[in-house]
Amino acid sequence: MTTSSPISSTPSPSSQPSSSRPSAVEPLLSVRDLRVVIDGLHILHGVDLDVAPAGVTALLGRNGAGKTTTVKAVMGLVPRTGSIRLAGAELSYLPTHLVVRHGIGYAPEDRGIFAGLTVAENLRLAERAARDGGEPDEPNYSLVHELFPELKQRSGQLAGTLSGGQQQMVAIGRTLLNRNRLIIADEPTKGLAPKIVTEVAEVLARAAEAVPVLLVEQNLALVRRLAGTCAVLADGRTAHRGDTAELLADEEAARRLLGVGSRHPLAGGPRPAASPATPVVTAEVKP
Ligand SMILES: Nc1ncnc2c1ncn2[C@@H]1O[C@H](COP(=O)(O)OP(=O)(O)OP(=O)(O)O)[C@@H](O)[C@H]1O
Ligand SMILES: [Mg+2]
Repeated sequence: MTTSSPISSTPSPSSQPSSSRPSAVEPLLSVRDLRVVIDGLHILHGVDLDVAPAGVTALLGRNGAGKTTTVKAVMGLVPRTGSIRLAGAELSYLPTHLVVRHGIGYAPEDRGIFAGLTVAENLRLAERAARDGGEPDEPNYSLVHELFPELKQRSGQLAGTLSGGQQQMVAIGRTLLNRNRLIIADEPTKGLAPKIVTEVAEVLARAAEAVPVLLVEQNLALVRRLAGTCAVLADGRTAHRGDTAELLADEEAARRLLGVGSRHPLAGGPRPAASPATPVVTAEVKP
């Protein structure tokens, strides 16, 4: 594994927003030697991953590298071994409903939206039940509606009639409803038109101001804009961890790890100023 200063204490030379710079403080989520075997198939062989306590951390890799399996393993959705620590608490022995109680919100690859239900009903379904028979956590609708006013305006609209970007607002909004410590979003821009990708980038940037985000993503332009640090998987293992801008500026490493050259204007060009108006065009990792 090549490792360039995972969660380095050295300040990033890039112009990344301070909230997404590598941090000297403890990672929020720390995964070590994560292994997954499904039906006798070894899918993950040793994934190491640190998620910064603020901003966006990216989980990268080519198709089939093991990104979705990694986040499913963190959530307890597939059997796993290894260590998964969230703010010091070991989660690797816990079933999904208890992982969720520790404060991880998960927006899965398929979004998990109920098309036949309204926006309000989709959100209501995400409200967390009472802990151990006690009072339920108060759902944080004010945060969700502050970040995504459109969800309030469209509360009576059927989710199936929303645009892809609006559906991602619902998916991410649900994760913010429960005062989570960490949000995991699995390829939220997959299959979306470039204009909608830009919308989703804004959704993620807004969400990350409130809660740290682990972003599984193949759109390198979006990753470059949002994520201060990253881990790259290859064949079910961590192949690289470090500063996102440094990786994408390294032609050889980007090509070897991600299959796209960093001189590609969408992958390694000068980082545009992070602004909601900055279009995020698609430069996907090659399979
Ligand atoms: N339940 C399963 N049974 C058998 N093989 C599986 C299962 N889940 C995943 N795999 C295999 O494990 C590998 C990793 O899959 P995973 O979905 O984690 O990759 P990924 O990095 O998320 O890919 P993508 O970019 O296409 O979403 C793939 O080869 C996949 O076919
Ligand atoms: Mg996947």
